[in-house]
Amino acid sequence: MERILVEGGIPLMGRIRVKGAKNACLPMMAASLLTSESVILEDVPDLEDVRTMSRLLKALGVEVYHDRKNEKIFLNSRRLTTSTAPFGPVRRMRASFLVMGPLLAREGRSRVSFPGGCAIGTRPIDLHLKGLEVMGAQFTMDEGYIEAETPRLQGATVYLDYPSVGATENILMAAVLAEGTTVIENAAAEPEIVDLTNFLNSLGARIIGAGTPLIRVEGVTSLKGGRYRVIPDRIEAGTFMVAAAISGGDIILENVITEHLTAVIAKLQETGALIEEPRKGMLRVRSRGRPEPVDIKTLPYPGFPTDLQPQFMALLSLAHGTSVITETVFEKRYMHVAEIARMGAKIRIEERSAIVTGQQLLQGAVVRAPDLRGGAALVLAALAARGFSEIRGVSHIRRGYSRLAGRLRSLGGRVYILPS
Ligand code: UD1
Repeated sequence: MERILVEGGIPLMGRIRVKGAKNACLPMMAASLLTSESVILEDVPDLEDVRTMSRLLKALGVEVYHDRKNEKIFLNSRRLTTSTAPFGPVRRMRASFLVMGPLLAREGRSRVSFPGGCAIGTRPIDLHLKGLEVMGAQFTMDEGYIEAETPRLQGATVYLDYPSVGATENILMAAVLAEGTTVIENAAAEPEIVDLTNFLNSLGARIIGAGTPLIRVEGVTSLKGGRYRVIPDRIEAGTFMVAAAISGGDIILENVITEHLTAVIAKLQETGALIEEPRKGMLRVRSRGRPEPVDIKTLPYPGFPTDLQPQFMALLSLAHGTSVITETVFEKRYMHVAEIARMGAKIRIEERSAIVTGQQLLQGAVVRAPDLRGGAALVLAALAARGFSEIRGVSHIRRGYSRLAGRLRSLGGRVYILPS
């Protein structure tokens, strides 16, 4: 298995362009199932999750061509050959479940494996199902698959008990081709939902209110094709911002939407980093030495994103003082703690909180990426640690970061991929 080798202690300097948002392009790829015309998405990065979604769509009969060099993807769903989303890709990536709503809307039927191969209790999709059920879908479960059927989805008022990103997207996509008006109450307001909505509206959908807790969708009978550029990835941007801060560096990020990073910028500034917007779409992040401790609570947007919790934990493990991080979105998202601890971090978990006692130094170590963002956090910690670190489990990192090692190297980092 490939590993990432990092020699710590080099301040990162230079410019880096942020890639298109993984969490915006995955639902858009699923949404291409709603139209029989061609869709071209621009700024689609070469990520393992994009490959997984491509494989899944191909298995449904969609024509998919990803021009990786130019970061464009071509999708055509004219002829679907099945409405069954097989176990393989769905097991690998929870976002695969996003084909449920579009398939149901287009074909009147969909059969999707339980995401993660787990039961509803541990990785719930209850909100997705509840919403689609209110719109007239009937569900049966068999052999690890969820089967949904309906002659035609009906517009309805759907209240989400929690503003789930995936449930909002699934219901929104289904509602686009439903009969009548759908209102989603307590909808998620993440920028990726606004982007999905802008994309769908550009194909002829009629959606208003995205970015607020109340989304209104007037059903239409069909969508056309189109071309659309995906927003920049705010989580990748946040990861590079922490890379600048933790390495004692000074970097300029290009292709950012600052408004999407309000909570992240505020927290990074609290740690003492200097952040400026030299011009629109650009951010300069400069370290001013060892970080100050800060408390962080993850929340749905516009709160602090859970997808940057592990990276900030890496930074705060070097603060001069104690920080408290409280994870409210995914309560067990602390798998990276034991690995950062191998580098000398002092972190104690108490229920939903991590108490991080900042250390003067981290030491290079052999660690394993437990998941995507936890893996990124380990690379960041290694940038600051004394000596060499080896990060295993690189496949997790590849799911959501394109050429992370090479791009950190372009900023002067000593970060290398070791072949298996
Ligand atoms: C999306 C993002 C992921 C991010 C997360 C939260 C994509 C592809 N992934 O994931 O990177 O970390 O938002 O910002 O966009 N829940 C239920 N029932 C449901 C659905 C969710 O209880 O039916 C719970 C989940 O267990 C979790 C919380 O709601 O505790 C948030 O999940 P959700 O917003 O749905 O996240 P995802 O859409 O899976």
